[in-house]
Amino acid sequence: MWLAIGMEFSFVRSRLEEVFWAWEKDYMNQNGQGIKLDTNRLVLRELRKEDEASIVKNANNLNVTQYMTILPYPYTLMDAEWFVNKTLEQSAKNIDERTDFGFAITFRDSDILMGVIGLSKVDRFEGTGIVGYWLGEMFWKKGIMSEAARTVIDFAFNKINLRRINISAVPENTTSNALIRSLGFSYEGTRRKKHRSKSTGKIHDLNEYGLLAEEWAKSRNENKMH
Ligand SMILES: CC(C)(COP(=O)(O)OP(=O)(O)OC[C@H]1O[C@@H](n2cnc3c(N)ncnc32)[C@H](O)[C@@H]1OP(=O)(O)O)[C@@H](O)C(=O)NCCC(=O)NCCS
Repeated sequence: MWLAIGMEFSFVRSRLEEVFWAWEKDYMNQNGQGIKLDTNRLVLRELRKEDEASIVKNANNLNVTQYMTILPYPYTLMDAEWFVNKTLEQSAKNIDERTDFGFAITFRDSDILMGVIGLSKVDRFEGTGIVGYWLGEMFWKKGIMSEAARTVIDFAFNKINLRRINISAVPENTTSNALIRSLGFSYEGTRRKKHRSKSTGKIHDLNEYGLLAEEWAKSRNENKMH
């Protein structure tokens, strides 16, 4: 009986969440408001021009860029300007037309950018998108990216209604591979010599991972039950 009541309660809650989100989406579209996602310790908000200096400060570090596809090294203000402008073009669009969402990762009590997490290449017909992320080195190993990634995954499945999220990481990036697995992604294979790091020029294999909406919903419900 408790199970039935619990299921009924989750159904009502998810309906309420849907209604609230529909209203919020409408509000954002009409008002050109940026999206803001709250977690326990963090606020993920859309990027701004003022973030460019913090992006350079955190990304201009080979330990951050070496396993990433798109970050060059050295990482200059021009690189940050290009990235923020590209993201601003997206955030000016109606949410239903956006293919990319780039979020500044900040602490709740400080608006300073620590890193970036993005949901990109959103394909609404396919129902898929890619999650990518990086964090300034001084913020590593505090569980920040786990917290940020869980929230962006929720956003992708429950607000953008994707059915699958893709993530990839080079095998040498042990932290990111561990993080991806801990989020519930399944390892689906390794593409040989798939990736060339923009910052080092080195060629790497690439581990591919996928997470399905139903797997995420199941793991969230299991966590709520315990
Ligand atoms: C990969 C990256 C985003 C991880 O961010 P992070 O916030 O440090 O990750 P988390 O803290 O959430 O968890 C990662 C690891 O820290 C550990 N950890 C979490 N909280 C911790 C704490 N309080 N104390 C010690 N370790 C902790 C986790 O267990 C995990 O450890 P593991 O590598 O032994 O499994 C970060 O290292 C980074 O930006 N790297 C450079 C860019 C990059 O590689 N991006 C990904 C490309 S695919």
